[in-house]
Amino acid sequence: MLYSLLRPLLFGLDPETAHRITFDGLEKAHRLGILGSGPIRCQSRNVMGLDFPNPVGMAAGLDKDGEHISALAALGFGFIEIGTVTPRPQPGNPKPRLFRIPQVNAIVNRMGFNNLGIDNLLANVKHANYSGILGINIGKNFDTPVEKAIDDYLICLHKAYRYASYVAVNISSPNTPNLRQLQNAEELDYLLRMLKLNQQKLADEHGKYTPLVVKIAPDLEPPQIDSIASLLMKHRVDGVIATNTTLSRAGIETMPHASEAGGLSGAPLTERATAVIRRLHDMLQGALPIIGVGGIMRAADAKEKIEAGASLVQVYSGLIYRGPDLVREIAQALCVADTPHSDARI
Ligand SMILES: Cc1cc2nc3c(=O)[nH]c(=O)nc-3n(C[C@H](O)[C@H](O)[C@H](O)COP(=O)(O)O)c2cc1C
Repeated sequence: MLYSLLRPLLFGLDPETAHRITFDGLEKAHRLGILGSGPIRCQSRNVMGLDFPNPVGMAAGLDKDGEHISALAALGFGFIEIGTVTPRPQPGNPKPRLFRIPQVNAIVNRMGFNNLGIDNLLANVKHANYSGILGINIGKNFDTPVEKAIDDYLICLHKAYRYASYVAVNISSPNTPNLRQLQNAEELDYLLRMLKLNQQKLADEHGKYTPLVVKIAPDLEPPQIDSIASLLMKHRVDGVIATNTTLSRAGIETMPHASEAGGLSGAPLTERATAVIRRLHDMLQGALPIIGVGGIMRAADAKEKIEAGASLVQVYSGLIYRGPDLVREIAQALCVADTPHSDARI
């Protein structure tokens, strides 16, 4: 409600300024105790061995450095994913690098993993003292050659392992040159083998199993999706997030900012992301869970993702366009859909 009043003011500002002001306001409201009090609780669901209080998560990229975990948690999310974080700090691409296309409820971004590095992120995680489900999304530095990407993922995996509820491996951002190449069969086979080997070592060392999930792009042909699904099963990866932003501009070619380089998210991505989830589900047949993301702007979009085979959902652009009420709207719809006769506690 409040957000619909604030939105015209925020949309009058450049998107990165609006982002900063929104988070400043959110932190203040949190300190005053006027946000919600934590996750919306419905029948909890066990996915990857974790108990999710509700199936609506915050997608990666909104809180890249984990600076606002407690305030975001107060909005009701069932889980929060921070990052993408890289081993070393890096500034990301030059500004401007974030564009709204309000005519179609979309965003184009080419942020380029601007972040302050894994050590800083983990200091923030410790400081937040958050006890809910926390995903840490990891990537490679822009100047690490793609053939050495595994080194960066392993640095982040080792450091994040004990603090994360799950670790998400981002091989699908369109804004780090050649990153998506890691989705090719040969590269992915090697990457997953190394990651799983190290996960096993870390599990023994820490006496704790942290699930590994892989985040994939929406711009994959069906045979590529099938090949990725086979590799995920072969290596017993714990989950898959589908999808990241798209390079496609289909249907919005003439809109202002549509020709900006970067990944497109929001409403124009909805169908494309759902199609990837459906194809993945056909291949995986429940062997591992799918976290559905991409163009969830209202509860009905989230329901479609679940019907296509997702076990959980995440939102990013929907939050920018609809504000925090969207979290409750989706949680309510999914919990009710889940438990038609029962005791969803919302
Ligand atoms: C500004 C912006 C930054 C993003 N940064 C990341 C990121 O760092 N890592 C990542 O895995 N995904 C990132 N994403 C992708 C989102 O997590 C999500 O997969 C995508 O936007 C589709 O969901 P949506 O349509 O709900 O926004 C970013 C998206 C946006 C709009």
